[in-house]
Amino acid sequence: MPDLLTFTIDGRTLQAPPGTLIINAAKQAGIEIPSFCYYDGLTIQAACRMCLVEVEKTPKPQVACATPVAEGMIIRTDTPAIHQVRKSMLELLLTNHPLDCPVCDKGGECELQDMVFRYGAGESRFVDTKYHVDEKQWSPVVFYDAPRCILCYRCVRVCNEGLGVGALGIGNRGVVSEIVPNEGDHLDCDECGACIDICPVGALTSGTYRYHTRPWEMDHVGTICAHCGDGCKTTLGVRNGEIIRANNRDRSGINGEFLCIKGRYGFDFNANPDRLTAPLIRVNGQLQPSSWAEALHKVAARFSSIKTRGGKFGVIGSNHSTNEENFFLQKFARQVLETSNIDHRRTGDVITFLDALQGHSGALATAADLYTTPAALILSADLSQQHPFLAWQLRANFRHNRGKVFAITPGPVREDGYAAKTMRAAEGTELEALESFREQLAAQPSLVILFGDSIKGDAIRKLVAFGDSLGVPVKYICLVDDSNSRGAADMGLLPDLLPGYRSVREISLEPGLAFDQMLAASDLDALYIVGEDPLAGRAPLASTPFLVVQDMFLTQTAARADVVLPAASAYEKNGTVTSTTGEIQRLSAGPSTMGAKSDLEIIGLIAKEMGVIIGVWRPDDVFKEIRQAVPAYQVSAAILETGGAALTAPVNGPIPGDARPHLISSARNTLFLSGTLGRYSHMLSSVLEYPGKLYGQPAHPAHQPEGTPETSR
Ligand code: SF4
Ligand code: SF4
Ligand code: SF4
Ligand code: FES
Repeated sequence: MPDLLTFTIDGRTLQAPPGTLIINAAKQAGIEIPSFCYYDGLTIQAACRMCLVEVEKTPKPQVACATPVAEGMIIRTDTPAIHQVRKSMLELLLTNHPLDCPVCDKGGECELQDMVFRYGAGESRFVDTKYHVDEKQWSPVVFYDAPRCILCYRCVRVCNEGLGVGALGIGNRGVVSEIVPNEGDHLDCDECGACIDICPVGALTSGTYRYHTRPWEMDHVGTICAHCGDGCKTTLGVRNGEIIRANNRDRSGINGEFLCIKGRYGFDFNANPDRLTAPLIRVNGQLQPSSWAEALHKVAARFSSIKTRGGKFGVIGSNHSTNEENFFLQKFARQVLETSNIDHRRTGDVITFLDALQGHSGALATAADLYTTPAALILSADLSQQHPFLAWQLRANFRHNRGKVFAITPGPVREDGYAAKTMRAAEGTELEALESFREQLAAQPSLVILFGDSIKGDAIRKLVAFGDSLGVPVKYICLVDDSNSRGAADMGLLPDLLPGYRSVREISLEPGLAFDQMLAASDLDALYIVGEDPLAGRAPLASTPFLVVQDMFLTQTAARADVVLPAASAYEKNGTVTSTTGEIQRLSAGPSTMGAKSDLEIIGLIAKEMGVIIGVWRPDDVFKEIRQAVPAYQVSAAILETGGAALTAPVNGPIPGDARPHLISSARNTLFLSGTLGRYSHMLSSVLEYPGKLYGQPAHPAHQPEGTPETSR
């Protein structure tokens, strides 16, 4: 068979490789063939007959979504007969479809509505009463209106193939056919909403968006999900300063259209009525609202007086603040407070990881690599629960490219269902299990190894040595939680390392206290906590004469503070974050909360009030500083500005810091848990409380250690 087949579509001579479907060959040539059931990346259904085209020498129209091009084929997509076929298909689809576009959520972005506008069929020859079934609620997230359903099976396929859940099927036959959920009358599933977004009509609607607004009434703001570290792009629909929905239907960003429930529906923490909108100052033992001027003055005056008398500070930063905010915070700690006592909650051993990779070029895997790599090894991570997007990538790779997955985990994981080989190994014993995988791994053309937080310290060095011994190219992903855990380490929220993992001794400072030491210290004069809630994780917090907390909510730690400063959420600010794969992406501000300020601005204002200017607190200016200070962040600005992801460079040199493996612990969030953000998300909470919910429970209870501190933003 020739490498390229030659054929014509609408009189244009085209070429495509064997196996190319007519619908895709036409698309590549800029010729649109209408379709409902065909969906890029999913198996072929050929159910809707909307894509019929004329193929010369065939007796009747052919489905373009299921017919591959052939040498010499002559295809016509734009004839009067084909127009009539499309109109007839629409007329059939509308036999029972209620004409309720004016109230349907999908109105304005409905594929059926668009087709009817294009091909007619606005008037029906069917006069019988339409068959009606009441709308059903399957979960807090998913509602189904059967009469609107055109039975394209996109929802069934995306759930089964894309998510690996398989919660949807078909019930009944003929005119009463409808989509049915896996638990009879309700869903027990990931609640990801992929089925809702992929539905071409308004048959599936979401509990957060339905009947709230119209697509043209919102601003559409592309930013990065505030929850886990996978770095999914999400497009916020913002109306009157409030987020109404989130999706990624334009398939931009590293995640294409993928979002888990947190990215698609877990945005409602942002408008929670418990958001702090004014600073609080403790007066006579009680926290009282105050003005920003008064609160900033109080903090600055106390910090200045402690500094003047040579007092002792502690500073704890957040895994959710932007790179710019974390960079500014470490600068504030080191230059203004003149302390090295600064740290963050470490969710993965990034320090040892980057140190162990010195001398290895191209060893950092991107999220895209997970889709193209011939093989991946998952070590001690429940990927579908903790890193849903990375799990989606591996599943897509398996389906589309026959990518192989190997897994060594403490308990059962979803990847067991399709992995080439899996093994159970208790945490701490994973590396012993590796030897029994050696032969198969060494036979792969190349490999990506993803590892969770139980692989730390020397175990990482042994793992890299094992990778080196395989004799095939190996890349790695050190899995970390939260939207900017990786950035917090890269930006130097560490007691012994500056931004870019340089020793603090370079600026004549001695290493300071680490996270646990600051929380336990009884001799600190002031503790400044930005976006962290150690008390929620039941970590001990010693009494401190002056506790300042910056947060969105009155968390357990904030409730102990002397001054609480209301902070903006990740969806309310500009800046950058770095994903678990080390890819930098830009945040764009969508909504705003009256009274809250970004961490960057708050830190800048405190410094200014103390009489010290540590730089301009505009995110773009701070990012320029970061690029100068951190070689790994000298990435293409054009990639970032156009909404792309830029991979940080490895450090490629010894890291002169203490990884403190005993401090490394993932929050072990599951699909429906997300620290403080999750607790203040009505949607995530209601899904957890929904009867019959089994998903979201940890696949292996060993992954829920007591006392794991959690981050707030
Ligand atoms: S919400 Fe997600 S997991 Fe649940 S049925 Fe829809 S696609 Fe499947
Ligand atoms: S619910 Fe939507 S996606 Fe599912 S079969 Fe019906 S029309 Fe298609
Ligand atoms: S996988 Fe992570 S980053 Fe992506 S949508 Fe879910 S929580 Fe957000
Ligand atoms: S798109 Fe071809 S049959 Fe539905």
